Amino acid sequence: MRILVTGGAGYIGSHTALALLNSGHDVTVLDNFSNSVPEAICRVSELAGRRLQVIEADLGDPQTIKRALARTRPAAVIHFAGLKSVGESHSQPLRYFSNNLSGTLNLLNAMQETDLGRLIFSSSATVYGVPDEVPVKEDHSLSTTNPYGRTKLVGEQLLADLAASDVRWSFAVLRYFNPVGSHPSGRIGEDPRGTPSNLVPYVGRVAVGREPLVNIFGGDYPTPDGTGVRDYIHVEDLAAGHLAALEWVLQHSGIGVWNLGTGQGHSVLEVIRMYEQVSGQRIPRRIVARRQGDVSSSYADPAKAERELGWTARQGLREMIEDHWRWQSRNPMGYGG
Ligand code: NAD
Ligand code: UD1
Repeated sequence: MRILVTGGAGYIGSHTALALLNSGHDVTVLDNFSNSVPEAICRVSELAGRRLQVIEADLGDPQTIKRALARTRPAAVIHFAGLKSVGESHSQPLRYFSNNLSGTLNLLNAMQETDLGRLIFSSSATVYGVPDEVPVKEDHSLSTTNPYGRTKLVGEQLLADLAASDVRWSFAVLRYFNPVGSHPSGRIGEDPRGTPSNLVPYVGRVAVGREPLVNIFGGDYPTPDGTGVRDYIHVEDLAAGHLAALEWVLQHSGIGVWNLGTGQGHSVLEVIRMYEQVSGQRIPRRIVARRQGDVSSSYADPAKAERELGWTARQGLREMIEDHWRWQSRNPMGYGG
């Protein structure tokens, strides 16, 4: 089956494209390379031992998207393409609304015009706002604390309205918790532009000497060691979750929503200590003020995905960090060197 992967040159998209190829699917990646490089695709192809089709295009260009769909006629679309920085979304909300929401609308319009109905949507645990209780279940109330989160929340709502309007649509909404790690080969991985804002990429940069120390945002949270707790999930498990969701959209119509997380919370200090153990590097750190908008503790109840998709996360924090370190130490400058 041919699967179209928007944003397939990015971090999660490249790992999922590889998993699709390894499962025997044909893959078309559609990406504008605004936050990725073609080298990522070359490496996916090298790891899979076969080629994938690449369309360099922007979701902001409706005609090109429609032509791409008409030409490739994918069995399903996995829609990763989007901007994802919470901080940036506060200073450039229109850019986020336009790229993420108009991009999604252009894609959906093109799908309708070419009579294609199956789509997997990258959502985020950010749609739970400040969770009332953990672990978080899918029926937790939804809210958002930032413009990026709003694009995910509204994206989900658009899909729900569409699914209700016509049985030909089939949507899987996947709410990712905190994706980390990389393919075990160390050939593909997360390559943030500029200074990373997420914890594990930042710690990795400290481990290779590109940053002097980790700022721990808050040491006074009501958690066992006072630092924030998150549900880190291996990107390979996340990729497997997309294959499970693909089976679902091929067999169902309507809309399904699932958390993709491990169900385990780990604190910032646990992550840093694990990175030290795995890398053998000392990671200097200091506790600073809480980061605005951060929640104390967020981890998933992943039971629904296990029950309905037959998917569970298999890898723990050690494997995630080992794989991240392999990628980081072999590619200290990311894909650039
Ligand atoms: P990424 O930035 O590495 O990948 C996104 C890809 O989309 C990039 O290759 C970028 O060039 C491309 N892209 C962006 N806008 C585009 C457009 N208008 N047209 C064509 N291509 C475009 O991000 P990622 O970490 O792989 O995230 C993938 C998706 O998952 C995003 O939608 C993100 O919001 C969501 N998500 C990510 C995380 C995370 O922690 N990484 C967590 C929750 C949800
Ligand atoms: C962040 C986003 C979330 C997005 C997710 C994945 C915010 C408020 N939330 O989640 O919407 O879906 O990234 O892109 O930005 N930390 C430090 N020092 C650092 C970096 C992080 O102490 O240098 C801490 C944070 O306070 C948090 C934990 O590490 O407790 C994880 O942070 P991060 O990796 O940024 O993910 P989230 O904040 O959970």
